[in-house]
Amino acid sequence: MTGTEKVILRGAAATLLMTLYLRSQDARSSRPILDDPYAVEVYDRIEHDVHGLWQFTGDRALVACRAAILDDWIRDFLAAEPDGQVLHLGCGLDSRPLRVGVPTSCRWLDVDLPEVMAIRRRLYEFPEQVVQVSGSVPDDGWWTAVDPARPTLTVAEGLFMYLPPQDVHTVVDRIVGGTPRAVLAFDAVADWIVTASGWTPVFRALGTGFRSGWEPAQFAHRHPTLRELDDISVYDEAAIRESRLWLRPLLSAVGHLPALQDAMRLHRFVTG
Ligand SMILES: C[S@@+](CC[C@H](N)C(=O)[O-])C[C@H]1O[C@@H](n2cnc3c(N)ncnc32)[C@H](O)[C@@H]1O
Repeated sequence: MTGTEKVILRGAAATLLMTLYLRSQDARSSRPILDDPYAVEVYDRIEHDVHGLWQFTGDRALVACRAAILDDWIRDFLAAEPDGQVLHLGCGLDSRPLRVGVPTSCRWLDVDLPEVMAIRRRLYEFPEQVVQVSGSVPDDGWWTAVDPARPTLTVAEGLFMYLPPQDVHTVVDRIVGGTPRAVLAFDAVADWIVTASGWTPVFRALGTGFRSGWEPAQFAHRHPTLRELDDISVYDEAAIRESRLWLRPLLSAVGHLPALQDAMRLHRFVTG
């Protein structure tokens, strides 16, 4: 990983800069939650023209916690299924395969839009078992890279809210129907966050915003073969893990407001 890289992205693809920036801020802080050294290295290597990322600084602990919990779930899966498969959807410029350590016996697919994967391939070197796949997740094309015989964990972090609900269901249907012993781990936001995202200046400048809020009853009805293992408020977790002590009571109080309990939650489902 050497030299700088110009990154020109718009729309949902550009939002990877927000999460990368926040993970780099976490790693630079005195008591990091995720402590991802690659986020610092990669963020420092790129030149981009998206202004105002500092406006998301208050979300640093949320983004770091979300990633840390998902990393733990992935490590659990890899320990139980070393020959399994991980589908890392909407991977952006996340270093996740390097953070969690992917066994050579595992198959791991990083999937994102072609313009993102072109940058990702230039910025990272991954081990052979970590395959880089370009495609839009609701489309069929990238699915040919999936091994239909392996138990499969799908991780979608900061992705489903950018897709229309029908596309989310299409992706879930495909995973449930196309892989044995499927586990799905993803985050989702409340409907009012979808509305509020439309007022966010950075989103407006990038021409993007959220399109799906979490509808638990509808999801359960639409995917009856899935059983929920976990449903975690990321605010609650951040209130425990936040390194800035003065922010903990604030996050805790905020997390107990009924509207914010559902603001950002992590879900883990399994088939059967
Ligand atoms: C907020 S970023 C999250 C990136 C990464 N998961 C992380 O946590 O840093 C959203 C990501 O979803 C990707 N994305 C949005 N729509 C997509 C689609 N239809 N197919 C594949 N990736 C998509 C974007 O390109 C971007 O990388």
